[in-house]
Amino acid sequence: MTNRVQDLLGIEIPIIQAPMTFIANAALAVAVSEAGGMGVIETLSPQGREDLVRVRTLTEKPVGANLMIQGWKNDPSIVDVIAGAGVTYVATSAGHPGLFTERLQDAGMTVFHVVGTEAAARKAIDAGVDGLVVEGVEGGGFKGALGASTMVLLPLIASQTDLPIIAAGGICDAASMAAAFVLGAEGVQLGTRMLATVEAGVHQNFKDAIVAADDAGTVLVSVPGNPTMRVLRNSITEAFTSDRDASSTVHLLGQISDLYFGGDMEASVANTGQVSSRITTVLPVADVVHQMWAGCLEALDAGRARLGG
Ligand SMILES: Cc1cc2nc3c(=O)[nH]c(=O)nc-3n(C[C@H](O)[C@H](O)[C@H](O)COP(=O)(O)O)c2cc1C
Repeated sequence: MTNRVQDLLGIEIPIIQAPMTFIANAALAVAVSEAGGMGVIETLSPQGREDLVRVRTLTEKPVGANLMIQGWKNDPSIVDVIAGAGVTYVATSAGHPGLFTERLQDAGMTVFHVVGTEAAARKAIDAGVDGLVVEGVEGGGFKGALGASTMVLLPLIASQTDLPIIAAGGICDAASMAAAFVLGAEGVQLGTRMLATVEAGVHQNFKDAIVAADDAGTVLVSVPGNPTMRVLRNSITEAFTSDRDASSTVHLLGQISDLYFGGDMEASVANTGQVSSRITTVLPVADVVHQMWAGCLEALDAGRARLGG
């Protein structure tokens, strides 16, 4: 038996790799797709688009793309790039879902839009998306400053729509996957967990910092001129959280490649979720996917047992 996320995306295991600009490349996506889940390639960077175009030569399994709407709102040519690459699943994010949903669907795509609030979910539903990626504020990367956690947001939105939902934010293992299904999801999306894998192309220092982080290891930063982001604490975030001087505007994303790929953990901000505190080893992607999937039913049974019924 399969569920709607498995059917719509054409995958065996309803585990989806998160869109991550610069990081969600062909190597990572192919590893996830070959493991039975859904790898997703970013399309904001030229390297990401090159990877998307060549991905069909690397795997016969389904692969998806991320379309960051804000970056493409004036250039619909991205729809042709995605459609031409032979992918059928698109996660749209960061922008008005009405801009691309119909065009992508007309080109044969299944479209899930990433939402972090109830209002954003309503907008996406009105735009006619095929499903929602509901992302709680504990997740890594761009966030709404006033966002709710996955524990609150997921059942809240699930109670208001019949669309299939992929849960994101705080999910890294069988227990958190099982919890997401109880709360109304039919699939899970993993960002931080996928960073701490052998196949992720980020520097070892970034992977080690994720493994080392404790439950206070990330912070939500809202620096003027930048999107609100959940990132690892470092000297840059400490400066902004201790002195919220709006005049000291900097572009936090400027040197992000030096951090992601050069390993200089003080060069910029390291988009990372709170779930880093639960990640204790760097694993091959296939181990992450298969351990989660195999352990999910067991985790549900353990929950029942704790109920005492
Ligand atoms: C390093 C990093 C980069 C990210 N970049 C993007 C992005 O470019 N577009 C996007 O929609 N989400 C982005 N996100 C959010 C993820 O897609 C995902 O929803 C989130 O990481 C889920 O929470 P988790 O980190 O607890 O797994 C990013 C997350 C991380 C950790």
